[in-house]
Amino acid sequence: MSDDIFTDSSDDQKLISGSAQPQDHEPEIFTLRPEKLTEYVGQSEVVETLRIAIEAAKQRGEPIDHVLLHGPPGLGKTTLAHIVANEMGGNLTVSSGPALEKGGDLIGILTHLEDGDILFIDEIHRMPKTVEEFMYPAMEDFAVDFVFDKGVHARSHRYRLKRFTLVGATTRVGLLSAPLRDRFGIFRNLDFYSEDDLVKIAKRSAALLNVKGDDQGAAELAKRSRGTPRIVNRLLKRVRDYTQVRADGIITRATVAKALKLEGVDEKGLTDLDRRYLKTIVRFYKGGPVGIEAIAATLQEESDTLVDIVEPYLLKIGFITRTSSGRKTSEAAYRHLGVAVQEQIFR
Ligand SMILES: Nc1ncnc2c1ncn2[C@@H]1O[C@H](COP(=O)(O)OP(=O)(O)OP(=O)(O)O)[C@@H](O)[C@H]1O
Ligand SMILES: [Mg+2]
Repeated sequence: MSDDIFTDSSDDQKLISGSAQPQDHEPEIFTLRPEKLTEYVGQSEVVETLRIAIEAAKQRGEPIDHVLLHGPPGLGKTTLAHIVANEMGGNLTVSSGPALEKGGDLIGILTHLEDGDILFIDEIHRMPKTVEEFMYPAMEDFAVDFVFDKGVHARSHRYRLKRFTLVGATTRVGLLSAPLRDRFGIFRNLDFYSEDDLVKIAKRSAALLNVKGDDQGAAELAKRSRGTPRIVNRLLKRVRDYTQVRADGIITRATVAKALKLEGVDEKGLTDLDRRYLKTIVRFYKGGPVGIEAIAATLQEESDTLVDIVEPYLLKIGFITRTSSGRKTSEAAYRHLGVAVQEQIFR
């Protein structure tokens, strides 16, 4: 692509309105979200699976099978749920595992769904067991069973639901119970994005935000985004601010580097928390192996945060390994931190 890929349509807007449009109060994260499968960058196998399922279901005039999406945060699970609803032409109802405290919460939602609607449940692994049990017949038979009274007087009444599609998302597929997992017809993992895909996302978002930049700028952003679209978008906004105030408004490799230095994001995209995590293993535990609870205690962070947010990318780039006895840092991590490997191990 050419150098001025970050197209600028602000002149057109000025022509129409007579003044510059204030972009600031737009809910940008929402507008950056692709709404159709064709706009969704990367994850080609997941996209193809969904495309086939959607087309087949539409031909038969049925809702698509229940879909489970799993993978680290910010990779596009919520986005895909919106896309499935858009492509199927159904309404989307959004909830999350922890928000469904009682069976009644779920039944209230289920009984309001129409044919072809999509119910999206984020963090589905955190749905309480008692609520989960209402989900089984809902998913399988499109029905919920109410139980009246208790003990010998207990009676149950089956209530028919409309044919909906459940889209579940989780960062921890291992915590999902087998009966729930098995009721999803489509079961897909989202993996970190390649740099090429992240470049495309950076360019797409820049175009939507009316920011200009060159190819090297987009590549540098992609390199520092931990394989994650949400991070590309967030960093792009920080760099946009920086170039607007401290440079000429055009995103280049140099402005990305300077802006992200201020954000504490290094050349590999690691944040302060990533580096503190690595240094803890190196300094306190001589490179490991060390259990996650010990690392969390030393860092004074929640172990869930480390497992969900910090570790997946460090594992992906080979900076840590997970063994049965705990986490270990790799030589690549030492090199990145600038710590002499020998010195640390034999100290
Ligand atoms: N494939 C994609 N192409 C373009 N933009 C994307 C893509 N996937 C995600 N995004 C962008 O990244 C942002 C984050 O995506 P999303 O909210 O879907 O992530 P998520 O997987 O649901 O994360 P979480 O687990 O934290 O809820 C979206 O607002 C969207 O702008
Ligand atoms: Mg989400």
